[in-house]
Amino acid sequence: MTMKMTMGMGLGMGMGMGMVGMFLLQMVASSDLRPGFYSRTCPKAEVIVRHVMKKALAREPRCVASVMRFQFHDCFVNGCDASMLLDDTPTMVGEKLALSNINSLRSFEVIDDVKEALEKACPGVVSCADIIIMASRDAVALTGGPDWEVRLGRLDSLSASQEDSNDIMPSPRANASALIDLFQKYNLTVKDLVALSGSHSIGQGRCFSIMFRLYNQSGTGRPDPAIDHNYREELDRLCPLDVDQNVTGNLDSTPLVFDNQYFKDLVAGRGFLNSDQTLFTFPQTREFVRLFSRHQDDFFKAFVEGMLKMGDLQSGRPGEVRTNCRVVNARPAHLLLESQLILESNNKSIFSI
Ligand code: HEM
Repeated sequence: MTMKMTMGMGLGMGMGMGMVGMFLLQMVASSDLRPGFYSRTCPKAEVIVRHVMKKALAREPRCVASVMRFQFHDCFVNGCDASMLLDDTPTMVGEKLALSNINSLRSFEVIDDVKEALEKACPGVVSCADIIIMASRDAVALTGGPDWEVRLGRLDSLSASQEDSNDIMPSPRANASALIDLFQKYNLTVKDLVALSGSHSIGQGRCFSIMFRLYNQSGTGRPDPAIDHNYREELDRLCPLDVDQNVTGNLDSTPLVFDNQYFKDLVAGRGFLNSDQTLFTFPQTREFVRLFSRHQDDFFKAFVEGMLKMGDLQSGRPGEVRTNCRVVNARPAHLLLESQLILESNNKSIFSI
């Protein structure tokens, strides 16, 4: 049974701070998703995804972190529907070039490899949206983090929206209170926010994302005072004012291992992003950071809960199982018109500007 709830979603939080507006995001609860969804139609699906992820990890260790990030960037923008995997077309400006994705999201080819392997085994069965969920879980499990059972059965979107991504996705400058508000709109608690931010236990970020906090925090012309002195010197060396801002640094001091070092680093003032360090600066989030820095088990448990909740976000819009994650399936002209009409009427009912 599908349970629907309609949530008010205030905008203006994201990278596109100026674009203040209002829309309603219709969320469909998880009841249509279940573990073992492909047990009859594609019994090897999960084994195949894990196998390809293992190979990807061996080829380039960072890429599993890059793939894990997809779950966040997919699920927050109109639900987990693989919309962020769609390439732009002459008639659709997708999410890949949105403010927080451009020059930043990477390793799309890993998803292509997974999809190719799944299409060989069971053509047209496993959605790209489910691939993101399985691959993210595998990224965590393969780097030393927890392993868990995922709920599956998502459909892939028929379109993508760069504007929605710009409006929704948070900036690395965001502070804890803005992040708490954003996550709350998705029914994610303060604990979920802190635990999910622990995903920054693996992977890297660009100098671009921290220049302001090194040289001009909040327009002061000074660095963020929350940065540990020695760490700031390291970051200054990595990202001098004239640096190519695509140079990357580690998000924590063990970037290839999913562990609670990220939280220990925050306690020591060694968080890479402002949005990370602010979790320790703010009283509302600080105790969770402290807890997770001391007890890795508590972090892992809360992280899994957060990933499951985030993975349940769905828009309730019509969808399909794409055969290529980068493009919607070709369809005869009359069906194309029909799905366009459904989409338009659906948008009318759930969006109000
Ligand atoms: C809480 C709000 C969050 C903010 C503001 C944020 C922001 C960022 C930024 C700015 C980067 C570096 C991008 C760059 O410099 O190119 C990054 C990287 C990353 N983020 Fe987040 N993030 C957030 C939450 C999450 C969540 C919930 C997840 C997953 C569950 C996640 C997973 C990752 C991963 C794994 C990386 C490293 C990717 C790589 O190495 O390619 N982030 N994030």
